Amino acid sequence: MDTAALTEKVAAKAVPIYIMGKRYEVPEALTIMKAMEYAGYQYIRGCGCRGGVCGACATVYRKAGDYKIYTGLACQTVVEPDMYLAQIPFYPANRATYDFESAEPTPETVFKLYPELFRCVACNACTKVCPMDVEVLDYVSALKRGDLKAAAEISFDCIQCGLCASRCMGEMAQYHIAQLARRLAGGKLAAKAEHLGKMCADIEGGAFADLLGGLKSMSVDELKKVYTEREMEPHMGADEWTPASSHGLA
Ligand code: FES
Repeated sequence: MDTAALTEKVAAKAVPIYIMGKRYEVPEALTIMKAMEYAGYQYIRGCGCRGGVCGACATVYRKAGDYKIYTGLACQTVVEPDMYLAQIPFYPANRATYDFESAEPTPETVFKLYPELFRCVACNACTKVCPMDVEVLDYVSALKRGDLKAAAEISFDCIQCGLCASRCMGEMAQYHIAQLARRLAGGKLAAKAEHLGKMCADIEGGAFADLLGGLKSMSVDELKKVYTEREMEPHMGADEWTPASSHGLA
């Protein structure tokens, strides 16, 4: 296709969007993140992995004629005609300071650091806004019951984008509270991963020195081939799945 035809094709599929109140025409298939860059914005903050896992790109938008305010990840949400966009590079939420080594893995530790937990009115806005479909209200309820392990499990997919806090009627930062629960549960309540200590000892003992040396000597193309042909994780049924097993730890 020649340049003129390509330009015409792109132009024919352009949609109007509004970024910080200014109108732009952008190709319709772009994500919000790419549309903003297409319009000339450069991300200094509010952008990380570009793949929906780091939580840096929370975005707020409205659609023309629609009373609702929408939220999403800029790197995952595709633009729609007449979208009004604003970026939240960082959601200002209080995060408690604590000494993890001396923190007891008890409900009281969480209650003391985050007493606002009990301001929850169970409106469930946090769950509805979560781009990762985390059952936020469920883990908040688990925390209120003092069940740190359940809160850690339920919040496992949280990417710390802060959108839950942005809609909370109780003005709390659910994602920070859940992070504390995961740290306490993972670091102090879960069984120690004995195999991890053994693996570290094996590595330090040189068990993989030849393998690593071989990898380091490969070209980029050879590395790609080895990566593509590597042994994949074994398939697991839903009832066998645990957060640890999904990461090859159990
Ligand atoms: S840039 Fe990481 S989630 Fe969007």
